[in-house]
Amino acid sequence: MRLPARADGPAMQDLVARCPPLDLNSAYLYLLLTEHFPDTCILAEDDDGLLGMVSGYRPPGRDDTLFVWQVAVDPRARGRGLGLDMLLGLLSRRSPRPAHWVETTVGPGNRASRGLFRRLAVRLDASLNETALFDAALFGAGTHEAEPLLRIGPFTPPVPESDRNP
Ligand SMILES: CC(C)(COP(=O)(O)OP(=O)(O)OC[C@H]1O[C@@H](n2cnc3c(N)ncnc32)[C@H](O)[C@@H]1OP(=O)(O)O)[C@@H](O)C(=O)NCCC(=O)NCCS
Repeated sequence: MRLPARADGPAMQDLVARCPPLDLNSAYLYLLLTEHFPDTCILAEDDDGLLGMVSGYRPPGRDDTLFVWQVAVDPRARGRGLGLDMLLGLLSRRSPRPAHWVETTVGPGNRASRGLFRRLAVRLDASLNETALFDAALFGAGTHEAEPLLRIGPFTPPVPESDRNP
């Protein structure tokens, strides 16, 4: 697992295209993530290419929070803990102001994503609360389900892997 770099933009877009129901954004958007938000994004890869990605950012003025935007795990790598490992890897990165809260939005019908964030809350020993955020109507008629907000925390950031005992 590693930080994204500029050259990863096209592969990040390709990975998201393989991971419905994620919204596929423009190539330019994924380049911006690598350029401006590498510290809050993480990639997982093997010899055959990109296996996973989490993109996120700190909401302006709320440095104690990591907002998780997209989580994508290639279908060939699912169900092996990679999604959870990437989230924990992001949260354990050294930072002058580590996050004590995670926020994301998840449609009511996305069972895998809901399960992933429930599992993250258990792992962090933190509570998970759900509130309304973006109603379906805001996405245009009949095009998208609602995106309620999931908020996990407060939690103690996980210990960086390099600091753990062998
Ligand atoms: C959601 C997604 C990222 C999960 O990735 P993953 O690497 O397979 O997830 P993990 O193996 O780390 O699973 C962690 C936990 O999530 C839950 N989970 C994962 N897949 C699940 C599924 N299909 N159904 C229900 N729960 C699921 C489980 O609780 C699991 O823990 P457990 O195996 O100990 O019970 C992956 O399915 C994906 O890319 N889906 C398409 C894109 C998407 O919907 N992204 C999320 C929106 S932001």
